[in-house]
Amino acid sequence: MRKSRIAGLGSYVPERIVTNDDLKQWVDTSDEWIQERTGIKQRHWVPDGGGIGSSDLGCEASKRALADAGLEPKDIQMIIFATLSPDHMFPGTGVFLQRKLGVPAGTAALDVRQQCTGFIYGLSVADQFIRTGMYDRILLVGAEVHSSGLDRSTRGRDVTVIFGDGAGAAVITPADEESQIISTHLHADGNFAEDLWLEYPSSKEHPQCGVEQISGDHTRHFPKMKGRQVFKHAVPKMAEAVFEALAKNGVSLADLKMLIPHQANLRINEYVAKQVLGLPDEKCFNNIDHVGNTTAASIPLALDECRRLGKVQKGDLVCLAAFGAGFTWGSALLRL
Ligand code: ACO
Repeated sequence: MRKSRIAGLGSYVPERIVTNDDLKQWVDTSDEWIQERTGIKQRHWVPDGGGIGSSDLGCEASKRALADAGLEPKDIQMIIFATLSPDHMFPGTGVFLQRKLGVPAGTAALDVRQQCTGFIYGLSVADQFIRTGMYDRILLVGAEVHSSGLDRSTRGRDVTVIFGDGAGAAVITPADEESQIISTHLHADGNFAEDLWLEYPSSKEHPQCGVEQISGDHTRHFPKMKGRQVFKHAVPKMAEAVFEALAKNGVSLADLKMLIPHQANLRINEYVAKQVLGLPDEKCFNNIDHVGNTTAASIPLALDECRRLGKVQKGDLVCLAAFGAGFTWGSALLRL
């Protein structure tokens, strides 16, 4: 069966930079607390006031990925859009991207949720469609606008300081001699669904979106995280996913050029890379310090930056690994 590869990469973050000190206008926090716990110094947010959604950021990243692949919107046969911050509850954000980017009407568009693991799930879906021969050119996007949905008050500070807005995109085509997606590995455990979630709006409520539920002291429309629980599960699950990808393909950590982990938190990634895997610093790429945690966008943003810095290039053995809400986790091993 034929394989697939990443034929183009692109990323985009909004111009507005929000430093840790900037957050103090809403939240009782400190640069020291945030850096020590998360490694984040700044993140990018869209301007306040609305009007810019995940599809807009995804569109900019997609233009760059298409240019990198030497393709045009008309060449795309399927869009896969991973986000936990969709433009709207429905329809999926992929159709808004299709219209904005000028991908022809009639082209397939699929949304993937899976939060921080969204890009890896999307990569796996794209890989399957290429392997079966159904499509030859798929646009995979991970994009988030978190800033409009965060609790900008001290009660939500554990979550609010972590997240940034951004987008990354990849064009997936059949493999060539140097480059291929070797394998993908996907997992989920719904026993922890409420440990990292956005409860509301909800189809289990009547009305699904009521004024009462979002006013006063109610906070169900803001994301919630049991931080220690996330830390406790993220470290072993990300490491397991890396080992799974290596074992499946009979390669070792020494063969890896680079690990690109989801940028959840620098402490999680350092723990996984140094303590569990024993990787030297130069084999694990992190950019969370300047972009924050961008969930589904984080891996393509990091991979694109890592490649632009010349730290990885075509043909290099790269492992992607993620852990996120659900809980979901997974990995992908590829020759870039
Ligand atoms: N600034 C200042 N103080 C804060 C902040 C903040 N932004 N947030 C929380 N605090 C306070 C708390 O209120 C608490 O104060 P108290 O002792 O007076 O009650 C104190 O700091 C310690 O709070 P804890 O929640 O116990 O802090 P902890 O040391 O566990 O660190 C953290 C919290 C950083 C979230 C940690 O649990 C962690 O790293 N978890 C991993 C979660 C993560 O990184 N998620 C990323 C997003 S999910 C994903 O992408 C998979």
